[in-house]
Amino acid sequence: MILKAKKLFKSFKGKPPIEILKGISFQIEAGETVAIMGKSGEGKSTLLHIFGTLEAPTEGSLLICGKEPQKSTVATLRNEHIGFVFQAYHLLEDFSTLDNVLMPLKIGRSSSEEGKKKALDLLKEVGLYGKEKTLVKYLSGGEKQRVAIARSLMNEPDLILADEPTGNLDQSHSQEIQDLLLGKAKQLQKALIVVTHDEDFASKCDRLLFLKEGQLYNPSA
Ligand SMILES: Nc1ncnc2c1ncn2[C@@H]1O[C@H](COP(=O)(O)OP(=O)(O)OP(=O)(O)O)[C@@H](O)[C@H]1O
Ligand SMILES: [Mg+2]
Repeated sequence: MILKAKKLFKSFKGKPPIEILKGISFQIEAGETVAIMGKSGEGKSTLLHIFGTLEAPTEGSLLICGKEPQKSTVATLRNEHIGFVFQAYHLLEDFSTLDNVLMPLKIGRSSSEEGKKKALDLLKEVGLYGKEKTLVKYLSGGEKQRVAIARSLMNEPDLILADEPTGNLDQSHSQEIQDLLLGKAKQLQKALIVVTHDEDFASKCDRLLFLKEGQLYNPSA
């Protein structure tokens, strides 16, 4: 089991406080791909952030590769096991494309020639070969999204969490990224959870779930 979540609740302060997630239980195995769909504001990004240990649930528990995220170990756990593609990229704008892809390695170990080769291979896979020296701030939205995808795969994470990874891409790049993410999950036995509004992408995943009113539904059940 790569991820096991039990009865996750999440509310945000306010008057009155808003409860976004209302008792979500979910699990995913190695090699499995799951799509999460749902209307804007239903809490898809919030749920993905919680799965990625970037945000804590108000209640509920989480196990990632058998480990419970704890304050002192959560950063290591995340760096070792999770690759995140954010809805808003979160790249370092003043650094080069290559340095951004190498980021996860820099946090962990020092960046080696081997790491650099791997980053360049990933850049090739996302169609950005030749742009490795370009500063991210000069890339287009779709190019930034592809850098974010390459970065998320750099550490060969067990769990890939992708928040609308094809949201800013044209049809042909979207197709390539879908194939890349789904292919990596199957070839390398990674778990992939993707939030998407693209029905075609969602239908290619092993499971499709809808987030609505704080609950995850299986539409075919
Ligand atoms: N830190 C926060 N404080 C208060 N409210 C928040 C916070 N983060 C998210 N929310 C609210 O929680 C709700 C869910 O947000 P979230 O970003 O998870 O939605 P989403 O399903 O990803 O939407 P979209 O499809 O537009 O990306 C929204 O109403 C949002 O305003
Ligand atoms: Mg979102």
